[in-house]
Amino acid sequence: MTALLDNKLAKRKKHGHLRQLQTRTPSIDFASNDYLGLVRSPALIKRVSQECQRHKNIINCLGSTGSRLLTGNSLYAQDLEDNIAAFHGYAAGLLFNCGYMANVGLLSAIADSGDIIFFDAQVHASTRDGIRLSRAKAFPFRHNDMAHLESRLKNSSCQRSRFICIESLYSTDGSKAPLQKLCHLSREYEAHLIVDEAHAIGVWGPQGRGLVAEQGLMGHIFAQIVTFGKALGTYGAIVLGSPTLKQALVNFARSYIYTTALPFISLAAIKCSYELFPNLDNKRTHLCKLIPLFCPFSCSDTHIQPILIKGNNAIRQAARLLAQEGFDVRPLTSPTVRQGHEMLRICLHAFNTTHEVVTLLEHLKICRHLHDR
Ligand SMILES: Cc1ncc(COP(=O)(O)O)c(C=O)c1O
Repeated sequence: MTALLDNKLAKRKKHGHLRQLQTRTPSIDFASNDYLGLVRSPALIKRVSQECQRHKNIINCLGSTGSRLLTGNSLYAQDLEDNIAAFHGYAAGLLFNCGYMANVGLLSAIADSGDIIFFDAQVHASTRDGIRLSRAKAFPFRHNDMAHLESRLKNSSCQRSRFICIESLYSTDGSKAPLQKLCHLSREYEAHLIVDEAHAIGVWGPQGRGLVAEQGLMGHIFAQIVTFGKALGTYGAIVLGSPTLKQALVNFARSYIYTTALPFISLAAIKCSYELFPNLDNKRTHLCKLIPLFCPFSCSDTHIQPILIKGNNAIRQAARLLAQEGFDVRPLTSPTVRQGHEMLRICLHAFNTTHEVVTLLEHLKICRHLHDR
């Protein structure tokens, strides 16, 4: 077996696709998903420790002792998911241990063989894995191409359920989904719209409620996924929707049923983040002011800026050059992105200064120049 694995790894290496773990050295963060800087916020840490003090009678602070359906449930968890659902304008919500488990659990629970899932070509691996597990027929449509989606919908005759999976803000190139049009198509063709808001929550919409809330579309969404490990600075996820959807997930979502529930400390961190992030409009305003500095370098109008440099070796070299200058910028290499679409993914944060961004852009110009020679 070891020889077989060595062989597979050697092939990966030969094609420049080998993934390797790296530790972080102190540098200017243009890579993490901590968009609002909450992970490093003393205010969040203080609140969480106060919350733990207030509930010091809770004995299972660091471990929940079982799955939600056995010994891992609590009124605290139930109240938290009710409050988060209400905050986002939904009737119900169900916590998952992370966004990956939420997407895998949701799709494998609601869709079946005989159903059809249409998905944007850029959706996250967790959505793709959920689709695979569901055994539904699946058809990708070109990224944000509504004409392509409509032709797919028109050409599919389906007696059973149909679903459309998208992200409100795509993590690879920072593009936003045309949510109004998607709601219109899902209504017209009677397909259930599923929106993953992982990269929009905390940054966009009123008080950081996300892009669905920005356009008041909650009533048109079958399920919305919110993850807590990015702008919200903690860990975990919630699926928002109707009480029936929640009940179905409790019964059929295997990544919910067969795992130890989040412990109190994680729930407290999520609760405290929801007390803090809605009030961070000043941080959101500063973050939005950094975005136009990237024009005409990139055409993204969000806090995720893709800088295209073709080829795994070239993109890795550019990231290395930037690291030498003190910038933490990560390359997206193939096969994570399609070959020829390799890019540096610049994540902007509320704690990045204008000076840091301007200096980064100067170095990016040099990287591009070196590549073009
Ligand atoms: C769009 C999207 N959905 C879901 C996930 C998974 O979330 P988590 O990191 O909480 O598992 C990610 C993580 O990168 C993501 O980008």
